[in-house]
Amino acid sequence: MPQIPTLDDLGDVAGKRVLVRTDFNVPLEQHEGGPATVTDDFRIRSALPTIEWLTSRGAEVVCASHLGRPKGEPNPKYSMEPVRERLAELAPGVELRENLRFDPREEANDPSFTAELIDGIDLYVNDAFGASHRAHASIVGPPTELPSAMGLLLQREVEVLLGLREQPKRPFVAVLGGAKVSDKLGVIEALLKNVDALAIGGAMCFTFFAAQGKPIGDSLFEPDQVDYCERLLRGPGTIHLPDDITGLDADGNFATYGTRLPGGAKGFDIGPGSAAAFSDVIMDSRTVLWNGPMGMFEDERFAAGTRTVAEAMAATKAFTVVGGGDSAAAVAQFGLDDQIDHVSTGGGASLELLEHGDLPGLAALRDAHDARSGGAT
Ligand code: 3PG
Repeated sequence: MPQIPTLDDLGDVAGKRVLVRTDFNVPLEQHEGGPATVTDDFRIRSALPTIEWLTSRGAEVVCASHLGRPKGEPNPKYSMEPVRERLAELAPGVELRENLRFDPREEANDPSFTAELIDGIDLYVNDAFGASHRAHASIVGPPTELPSAMGLLLQREVEVLLGLREQPKRPFVAVLGGAKVSDKLGVIEALLKNVDALAIGGAMCFTFFAAQGKPIGDSLFEPDQVDYCERLLRGPGTIHLPDDITGLDADGNFATYGTRLPGGAKGFDIGPGSAAAFSDVIMDSRTVLWNGPMGMFEDERFAAGTRTVAEAMAATKAFTVVGGGDSAAAVAQFGLDDQIDHVSTGGGASLELLEHGDLPGLAALRDAHDARSGGAT
């Protein structure tokens, strides 16, 4: 398979206008009567090395990103303005275009939109790992027209995540959580072929409990995934499920259960025994991938399982990777993000890369015909 071009392959960038596709899809807080503010700038900070690499070599950088899902029309709620303000503090003088998804041609991958995006642009850099699983115009269009490369963030994400697929140091353990099995079907199957152990927490575990025929009270689960979970539990590969759960009883009081929840009870976190067991597995591994919280960690009563897993991730000597989205938010909330070897900026993108070993955005860069010629045609 051809290599994906890197920044060095772009040649001399001095005086060139470079379109950098970033993933600045960041959480915002809306303020009544005033402008919204960015509440977590992790994705913006993660793009800075690429921006600085280019500007320090004399390139003029134009960033472009989507924000939220405005469904192809302008919507002030998804304006890039708050992001632009934060970017101006972190990388003064760098232009940021308006939300790409204000135009329906972005998601439709319409060549006329690509043509507008690259008008007056000399080079294209994709550093939007979190959006590289989308075959949208700004991701797959420019490499067909311009010398193109992956940015430093995209490069690191690919190295780390493909490294997990290809040559993890063993034992390699994956800890998965989150609410829905249906979001993670493909990646669970791919991981089961590769990991030495797979531990499952979060509300996902109730669909597995249901597949084992256990009562789960009124806990969240996905009835249409029960048969699938039953098949997964039959193997190949071993799935470790929690053996205790915390939640609320039928009267709304905090309660701890084993793996059978009485009628009216709702499970919201893995229990202390399971958290300790998952922590032991993490400590004894040499590579750990964690994706998805163990419970409803936004509620302090149900944060313990996620916090214990995050602390074990920070303490273990293993190479640690945290998938994007909620688990990345959790390690940041607990102040442990700088003790993780790699916190991915991609939610869906990291799962798809782990599952398929490739993404539309990477394939497009690989096919960029003249990237390595430094812009010569
Ligand atoms: C993400 O937040 O996972 C990326 O920015 C992609 O967003 P999307 O799921 O709306 O395409």
